[in-house]
Amino acid sequence: MKLFNQNLPQDASRSSSRSSSIMYAGLLERLEILRSTLRWATRLDRPEIEKLLRQANAVRDEVMQLSHRERFVQAAGAHFGAEAEPTPEQTAGERKQALLARSFVFEGTFGDNPRLLDALEIAEKAAPTDLPVLIDGESGTGKELLAKVVHANGARADKAYISVNCGAIPESLIESELFGHKRGAFTGAATDRKGKFESAHKGTIFLDEIGELPLQGQVKLLRVLQSHEIQRVGSDETIAVDARIVAATNKNLRKLIEAGQFREDLFYRLSVIHVTLPPLRDRKDEIPLLLAYYGDEAAEVLKRRPVGLSPRLRAFLLAYAYPGNIRELRNLVYRLACLAGDTADLVHLPEDIRPGAPAPLAAPSAGPAAASAAASTAGAATPAASLAEAKRAASDEAERACLERGLKDVGGTVAELARRWDMNRSHLQILLKKHGLHSKDFRQAGR
Ligand SMILES: Nc1ncnc2c1ncn2[C@@H]1O[C@H](COP(=O)(O)OP(=O)(O)OP(=O)(O)O)[C@@H](O)[C@H]1O
Ligand SMILES: [Mg+2]
Repeated sequence: MKLFNQNLPQDASRSSSRSSSIMYAGLLERLEILRSTLRWATRLDRPEIEKLLRQANAVRDEVMQLSHRERFVQAAGAHFGAEAEPTPEQTAGERKQALLARSFVFEGTFGDNPRLLDALEIAEKAAPTDLPVLIDGESGTGKELLAKVVHANGARADKAYISVNCGAIPESLIESELFGHKRGAFTGAATDRKGKFESAHKGTIFLDEIGELPLQGQVKLLRVLQSHEIQRVGSDETIAVDARIVAATNKNLRKLIEAGQFREDLFYRLSVIHVTLPPLRDRKDEIPLLLAYYGDEAAEVLKRRPVGLSPRLRAFLLAYAYPGNIRELRNLVYRLACLAGDTADLVHLPEDIRPGAPAPLAAPSAGPAAASAAASTAGAATPAASLAEAKRAASDEAERACLERGLKDVGGTVAELARRWDMNRSHLQILLKKHGLHSKDFRQAGR
């Protein structure tokens, strides 16, 4: 029986002078040989089956070894013209302009940072394909925003975008949440219920915090990715689903794989296109733009004039390391807009990051940049105990005033306020409790 020569295509893949299309052609050829071997074989002995399996595994491993990016460029190329390719002589500014000129849909702001542009260009090219996208990056770097970019710039933009936080679903409910259930499937299943996958049919499903999905859920998800079919819990009927998958995580999935907490096969299925968002400390050139963007937004939301920044506060904000990334910057700007009069100063910063404050500045993820931010503004704050006390009192008072104003604006709906301020609702509840504020007292006041 003729079996293919393993050496030829592998040699080809080692040769850096050959293009990836030649490598793919080689892989396809090997697959075809495998297929025809299987198709025409009248009888296969065990050793032959094992040999074929080894060859199939070798092809699979090679596909995985090829860079994710290359794979997706190949696929996306068919959908997207060559004009999307940045030419080597294009400056970052030109790349940004080109993105905008192509009517790139993005609900935020971005400048000329090459790493961010890389991520946005990948997302833009991936969008028109149905390939799965995995987005990773630290908390607050914009993963969810990027997932929406993939959806909004693709052919499914006018279809459903369903977001699932895999970390927030109790293990026992995951299957029912993702795939739905039949009435009576378990205690409490009073009616038939559609799952998130069915709701995302023809659209996009965003699997957030995918690293939190328990192993059992991973097995079930893998099955759906392979078969494009789901079964509601308690039902034998299979339902075809066509949902484009975008997943995100702030965990290092490769490390989770090593620790046996994440399935490698699922990782490869999800990460055909793998985008990593850089932390804000690695794209500090974007900070002025983000400060302006959120300064305007905060002024509009809080119905006030945009707040000015004192030179030393601006110096701090430009140098600070933002361990919470863009979310932290956004919250800081809202805080300043809420607490300050015409001009915000260092005193309006949260105490734990304020220059001159003792330990918290040295938080591990804040890194040396935060320390240098502190140093660059050193002398601006005096760590005298009584002054610190006075500042704390002032800060508390301002915090309370801000909470009152916020609650008034949303008519006492804490969930809405948490959404507007991009805060965790339970954290907001804790703050309300700290100040003895009751949301019900604001129910009539706001609207
Ligand atoms: N380029 C950007 N321009 C403007 N705002 C941005 C940008 N990137 C992220 N943001 C904002 O930062 C905040 C955090 O973004 P997002 O929720 O997408 O982060 P995340 O990476 O999903 O965080 P987490 O891992 O904590 O879920 C959001 O308010 C988002 O709108
Ligand atoms: Mg997120």
